[in-house]
Amino acid sequence: MKRIFLDNAATTPLDPEVMAAMTEVMSGTYGNPSSIHAEGRKARSLIEAARKTVANYLNCSIGEIFFTSGGTEANNMALKNAVRDLGVTRIISSPLEHHCVLHSLDAIRATGAARVEMVRIDERGHVDLEDLRKKLAEEGGKTLVSLMHSNNEIGNLLPLEAVAELCGDAGAMFHCDTVQTIGYFPIDLDRTRVSFLSGSAHKFYGPKGVGFVYVNSDNIIRPYLDGGAQERNMRGGTENIYGIVGLARALEIAAAEREARMAEMWEIKRYFIEQLKSVYPQVAFNGDTENSHCKVLSVSFPESPKGDLLLMNLDLAGISASGGSACSSGIDVGSHVVGHLHPDSKRHTIRFSFSHHNTREEVDAVVSKLGGML
Ligand SMILES: Cc1ncc(COP(=O)(O)O)c(C=O)c1O
Repeated sequence: MKRIFLDNAATTPLDPEVMAAMTEVMSGTYGNPSSIHAEGRKARSLIEAARKTVANYLNCSIGEIFFTSGGTEANNMALKNAVRDLGVTRIISSPLEHHCVLHSLDAIRATGAARVEMVRIDERGHVDLEDLRKKLAEEGGKTLVSLMHSNNEIGNLLPLEAVAELCGDAGAMFHCDTVQTIGYFPIDLDRTRVSFLSGSAHKFYGPKGVGFVYVNSDNIIRPYLDGGAQERNMRGGTENIYGIVGLARALEIAAAEREARMAEMWEIKRYFIEQLKSVYPQVAFNGDTENSHCKVLSVSFPESPKGDLLLMNLDLAGISASGGSACSSGIDVGSHVVGHLHPDSKRHTIRFSFSHHNTREEVDAVVSKLGGML
């Protein structure tokens, strides 16, 4: 049975071209990038070329990119360093952020070093910009706004430029979790003023366990990991050369194929919505299905005795999807995002998330198999 993978917001399969680039480095480049001999210099040059690729994508300077182990580390670093090193005493965020942001905020709050305020989310799952403006206008000490670019569970998009402007006008810093949008949306940091943003290779067909944080050069922070002088003293530890090379190759391909991939994913997402609505008129969609990422579609099915087993039955039928961010052993324990938007709902929510590899035939198969599971 050929499986149908509709969980591309959780991760994406490694692109064979990316794998080829990585294996070439694995077999031929074993030098430690910190060594000054030829092997070391060769490894160093690969890392610096990768940094250039990321900086080109974001239109920023290479000195503003630091490689990390992924999006979680990048977001932890941005938030915790902003408080520790830059005197931030208030963070404005949203209840719909990824757990790596929400749990970092819990940790910061517990130290007493900064206060955390949550911005209002409207009925469709968008950040209420008026509320953000009001909060920014209140006296609150040095402020960092932390809002994600695209929500990983419902797909809603943040108007990045408008938020950057609001923050800039109020003299606040802005951290944006761009883990779901790097490789899918162009981001021009020369035009859009952001203090920190984050990326993760496995969300755009690169390897797992590698990502980056962008730190605007105005922000002088101290090392996040104490150790050697790697990553310009910011993150000690021998660099993950293969991962970094894979990240850069995946980003180059994603940038070159961006428009074609996005068009294919929109086609699949809209077709899926249409088919679901026509076959199961009682389905509801969480969030804003249009002003959103083409990758993500959150669907709520009416309450039914079989609903709790929906994810497991989909898996048994060869279809991979997910219940939300907090999902273990195939048991859907609920999504904090959908729970915030619809606190009283007893519906069963499934997140389907697409890639340019998905086809209409796969959508037809999923829609038809769903029938016996509801
Ligand atoms: C919005 C968002 N932020 C952060 C992360 C964490 O990224 P990583 O898996 O690279 O730690 C994810 C991954 O699910 C995500 O979707």
